[in-house]
Amino acid sequence: MNQSEIEAILKVHRLAFGEAEGEETAQLAKDFLDHQETISISVKRDGRIAGNVLFTPFVFEDHLDTKCYLLAPCGVSPEYQGCGVGKELMETSIEHLKSIGTDAVFVLGVPTFYPRYGFVPTDKQTPYPDLLTAHEAWMALELTAGAVEKLSGKTRAIPQFMQPHWWDTSGRE
Ligand SMILES: CC(C)(COP(=O)(O)OP(=O)(O)OC[C@H]1O[C@@H](n2cnc3c(N)ncnc32)[C@H](O)[C@@H]1OP(=O)(O)O)[C@@H](O)C(=O)NCCC(=O)NCCS
Repeated sequence: MNQSEIEAILKVHRLAFGEAEGEETAQLAKDFLDHQETISISVKRDGRIAGNVLFTPFVFEDHLDTKCYLLAPCGVSPEYQGCGVGKELMETSIEHLKSIGTDAVFVLGVPTFYPRYGFVPTDKQTPYPDLLTAHEAWMALELTAGAVEKLSGKTRAIPQFMQPHWWDTSGRE
């Protein structure tokens, strides 16, 4: 990925998450893009990136053969929100993740948006389970039948994700 594409992705997240969270989310996206195994999916409109979503490896320590990802962040530039970009991002991502043999995807996110694409609340462990007060915001999408049910025990995200503030849902809807 070249530098201008990286800048365009960071700009999308900066704008999508607004003044309160935009800068921090763009920084997170930058850290994730530096990680070799991160999957980046973008959707273009008018010749430029209008939306982007990143997937980073998520490991269940007792189930190393089960291939899981964490979805974050997912953002669409405000000027393109409400026009199907988010839907296209999700559908394209799910197709790609399936094609590379992904078993499940997890997200800490808006409980009204992700269920449209098959995510359901899950009780599997987050890296900081004690901070997770908004339980309906922690969701899983199963891509291999029966994969999620079998998962249990401790989980591990990439180091950039292991900061408690990403898992504190006390201020979220
Ligand atoms: C949430 C977001 C990614 C959705 O992208 P979008 O391009 O606006 O979504 P789309 O226009 O493709 O809408 C897809 C569907 O989701 C619905 N939807 C859009 N935003 C939603 C939201 N915040 N909550 C619930 N549903 C939402 C739409 O009504 C649409 O439903 P339909 O298919 O029944 O018509 C985008 O609005 C965004 O970047 N928001 C700010 C950042 C954010 O909150 N990211 C998610 C954090 S976990």
